[in-house]
Amino acid sequence: MLLSVVTVQRLVPVHRLPCAAASMPSSTLVLLGRRLHCSAASMPSSTLLLLGRRLLCAAASMPSSTLLLLGRRLPCAAASMPSSTLVLLGRRLHCSAAASMPTSTLVLLGRRLHCAAASMPTSTLVLLGRRLYGSAASSRVLVLGIESSCDDTGAAVLDHTGTILGEALHCQNEVHLRTGGIVPPVAQQLHRDHIHRVVQEALDQSGVTPDQLSAVATTVKPGMSLSLGVGLEFSLNLVRRHGLPFIPIHHMEAHALTVRMLRPDLHFPFLVLLVSGGHSLLAVARGVDDFLLLGQSLDEAPGEALDKIARRLSLTKHPECSALSGGQAIELLAKRGDRRALAERAGDRRAMTFRTPMGTLRDCNFSFAGFRNQVTMEIVKREKEEGVDEGTLLSCVCDIAAAAQHTVASHLAKRTHRAILFCHSRGLLAPSQPSLVVSGGVASNQYIRSALAVVTEATGLQLICPPVKFCTDNGVMIAWNGVERLREGRGLLSPDVDVRYEPKAPLGVDITAEVKAASIKLPPLQLRIKD
Ligand code: KG4
Ligand code: ZN
Repeated sequence: MLLSVVTVQRLVPVHRLPCAAASMPSSTLVLLGRRLHCSAASMPSSTLLLLGRRLLCAAASMPSSTLLLLGRRLPCAAASMPSSTLVLLGRRLHCSAAASMPTSTLVLLGRRLHCAAASMPTSTLVLLGRRLYGSAASSRVLVLGIESSCDDTGAAVLDHTGTILGEALHCQNEVHLRTGGIVPPVAQQLHRDHIHRVVQEALDQSGVTPDQLSAVATTVKPGMSLSLGVGLEFSLNLVRRHGLPFIPIHHMEAHALTVRMLRPDLHFPFLVLLVSGGHSLLAVARGVDDFLLLGQSLDEAPGEALDKIARRLSLTKHPECSALSGGQAIELLAKRGDRRALAERAGDRRAMTFRTPMGTLRDCNFSFAGFRNQVTMEIVKREKEEGVDEGTLLSCVCDIAAAAQHTVASHLAKRTHRAILFCHSRGLLAPSQPSLVVSGGVASNQYIRSALAVVTEATGLQLICPPVKFCTDNGVMIAWNGVERLREGRGLLSPDVDVRYEPKAPLGVDITAEVKAASIKLPPLQLRIKD
């Protein structure tokens, strides 16, 4: 099989390269580097020698279809990997990445390139060196991220620094508020109706064409099957049409990492609390795809509970809440409510109306279903007292919202407090400046943030919350996750690989049993929150 330069340029969008290509027998490789004096050598079946410019050299051929390539002055380190994969490290790389990937793909890092990776069809490979970075526009690292796991269709184009070049989002919230919750086939249809436009808008804004992309990253887990399917199908068509690498994304991993786009100084490990409409979990983020799960919801998520409470309270009938999600509506009304008022009116001197869930269980799991039941019972009671039917706005709606919000905040704060103490006891967080990152839709709640700030202050952690815009679902977080994975060469797939979505997908290594066994008793902590 002979490959010409022309063939290579067709495979990879690298133009303006003055040189250089080598064609080689089966299972071969082509290396292109601008200003490379040379050079490539063909060697017996499935091995390869690759020399970069100014690389004094060093190459090793290795058994079948693997390759080791070392640049000059490398502080490190290359890895050989199973059949038909390859790692290539450039000179003076700050880092190194080793990715094992399915047949005939490749991760390639050039000098001072934060990254660059190209996975391509069978037995072909293109290498972009550092100097190419600026000169060939198409060699810039550009990732398109696509989100469609729930009820938001999002897309964004980011470069390797996390600069957002284009973004677009279509929220279905208004439709679902009208139907009284997310109806999966309706969500699916809305994703179908909008995904082309949303992706095109993000691309247009960025001025990037699909051919110039380094990869497409898309949420494939966890989420609603019908919704995930739309994003995945769209993305696979796109990567196949343009021969692009595909990066499947775990939605919760993306929520956890978004903050690193905004705070490049935030290094692993850190603690994350992810709270959304579908999830509630505490985990230690130790690396881009390395998490320790400390606790998660045993039933429903806090956002789901708040959405259902808001629906039961008919908050869409409130003039200021008609277009807000349940959580947003409760936060807004809670500001005008008094969480103690309900209890005081009932002659009950307890500070709160609703019990904080799982008070006697010394683990870091969450539960919101029982709490939601309590709130529903309170609503029924008030409806009777006020002599109104279900569906009528109660006069004490703001007080209920305040009490419900406080209970959610208190539950999240207590489990997080225990997680921090567990991490301290095991040395799981960075010794200098340990951090708690809070993200997911519910994390946009200022009252909940304040409750968590009490905990982090008492335990010596810095609290990091992304701006609200990045807490809720969006395409940017998916694209950023793609950039992080590309940088590390983790989880890149060639476009022809068959990828399935996964409605349920755990995040990281589950050590919830270990946390429970530690049975950490919380010291008293007054959640004094300005309300
Ligand atoms: O992360 P997200 O956009 O989607 C999921 O992955 O679920 O989160 C949406 C959830 C909804 O349940 C919504 O009610 C909740 O986040 N939420 C809030 C607030 N804004 C959105 N919950 C409490 N307070 C808020 N301000
Ligand atoms: Zn989410």
